[in-house]
Parts: sequence; C-alpha cells; structure tokens
Amino acid sequence: MAEIILGVGSSHGPLLNLPPEQWEVRAKFDRAQSELAYRDGTYTFPELAELRACDEFVDQCVIEVKRERHAQCQTQLDDLGARLRAADPDVVLIVGDDQREWFFEDTQPAFAVYCGDEVRNLTWTDAEREVRIKSGRGGDLYSYRPETDQTYPVERELAERILGAAMDAEIDVAASMQQPKGPDGLRNIGHAYGFIYRRLLQDKPIPMVPVLQNTFYPPNQPAPKRCFELGRVIGQAIRAWKSDKRVAVVASGGISHFVVDEEWDHKMLDALRDGDKDTLVDEPNIMFRSGSSETKNWITVAGIMSETERSMELHAYVPCYRSEAGTGSGMAFATWR
Ligand SMILES: [Fe+2]
Repeated sequence: MAEIILGVGSSHGPLLNLPPEQWEVRAKFDRAQSELAYRDGTYTFPELAELRACDEFVDQCVIEVKRERHAQCQTQLDDLGARLRAADPDVVLIVGDDQREWFFEDTQPAFAVYCGDEVRNLTWTDAEREVRIKSGRGGDLYSYRPETDQTYPVERELAERILGAAMDAEIDVAASMQQPKGPDGLRNIGHAYGFIYRRLLQDKPIPMVPVLQNTFYPPNQPAPKRCFELGRVIGQAIRAWKSDKRVAVVASGGISHFVVDEEWDHKMLDALRDGDKDTLVDEPNIMFRSGSSETKNWITVAGIMSETERSMELHAYVPCYRSEAGTGSGMAFATWR
C-alpha cells in the first residue's frame, strides 16, 4: 500500500519573495484598500490603524526588524525544502487555494482535484509583469512563476482514486481533467502550487496531485469542517492505494494575512499541533477571509495526517509586519513527522 511519509505546512505570502526594502510597496497597496478583513469586521486602512493603534506596529515595521524576519523565513524555507527533497517522495500532493488562476466566475468549484497528465508553470509575460509592477504587486519578485516555462508531471492514478473516494464518501469534488485555457492562452497553475514546486522542490519534476480549494471567493467557500472531512478521505484513499509509492503532503499558504492576527494564528497553530480537530472545525467561517482563508489548506492536511500516526511540529512562526495598521503576513513553517 502507498505510504504517507511526510506532511509539510508552508506559508507562501508575497513578502517571502520580496526584499524587505520593498515591503513598503505592499504597504502602499494596503493603504488604498477599503475592505481589509480583520476578525469578523471589514475596515478601511485608517479605520484599521485606529482600531489597532495600541498594538504599536510601528516598531515592527523598521527595516532592521523586517530584515530579521525575512531572513528567519528564508532559513525556514531552505530547511523545509531540504527536508522535502531528502524525503525523496514519489508523489507530492499539494492542498492549495485557487485565486482566480485556474477557475474564474464561470465555474468556481468549492473543491477540485486536477487529474490531467501534466501541469505547466509558465513564466510571466511582459504584459503580466507590467500590470503587477504598476499595481504595486511586484513583477519578477514572485518566485512561483519560473524564468523559463516548466512542466510538472501529475500522478493521475492517485488523483482519480481520490476523486472516486470523495464521491463514495458523499463529498462532491470537481474533476479538472485539462489545464484550462483563457482568452490569452493556457491558464497557469496557481501560486499555491508554483511556490512549492519552485521554492521548496527547486523545480524537481516529482509527480504532483493538485487539490484546489476555493477558500477566497463567496458564496461557496467550504467550511473548515468540510475541509477536515475531505482531508480524512484523501488520507484514507492514499493509504488504500495498492502501490508502493511514498507520498508527501503539503499545505500551501496562510496563516493570517493580509492583516496579521498573532492571537488567531497561535490558536490555529496550537490546534494543528495538538490534533485538536474540534477547535479547527468549530472556528467560524468568517474568520477565514482574504489570505487568512488559506489556513483551510492546513486544516485539510490536518485531516489527511489524522489518518496517520504523525503529529505536527511547528518549526517557526514569524509575524511579518509592513504597516502601522498591522498589515502583512503571519508566516508559519511546520512538518508532520
Ligand atoms: Fe496565497
């Protein structure tokens, strides 16, 4: 039978790929936002700055602190990548979120599994680069897109087994059998997957299984309980697979962003570490908005790993602040061993 040999949890937020000297670019972007999600409220930047003034984020935004936090994150990413590559898995299953990269308004499945033969990760076009730079979101600084087009194989047999197992368990999961095309050609594999393949796997062409969750967009974001349940079914399907393949599982994204909430991050990470399913699945859906919604990718992986004897070890939690309103990313790096 196939074996789940390792679980990995890694943040993938844009500050990881942006030199700390340029984090202000993203802060400028935050200042223009009118709907910043924080706990159960939604705020303009000045409203959020006023609400959180007592937390004195200004001290967290000096360049020395930014440099230190960025360096801590790079050490963690180097370490996670080394561990993942040393484990030498035959398959890497990535639970990520699709952020209008693969699916758009025409069809937006709550859950999908890609079961084509391969995935293309394409380099930025010049037009895309320009748009990103003009919108303050960075151009070449985003390392989830390669310098030259890449092709990653897909472990189709396992992907199809997972789809079948989910349907048997009465969890309806969409099957994506072909990399979609848009008006500009092939749509790229999303940042959640590209980041893991580039930053952690260094484009090593290990067959992948992409599990796509709609964590971001109303009205059909799956509840945390459903994510955990899907995870359990995936874990069971891997372990029931008559194969000698060794599977690594990765949760991509999270924890709180683009408003950092350290208290909430610790609540989620403690529950993940302790295998405290009730805390994870009882957390109200409204707490999982914007980038913080990617924490559901970790909950699905917690469900997968609950089918093994492995528990989560948090290697580091690094809050990365970029503005006086406490915007930025709460970065976490972990393994289930
Ligand atoms: Fe993301």
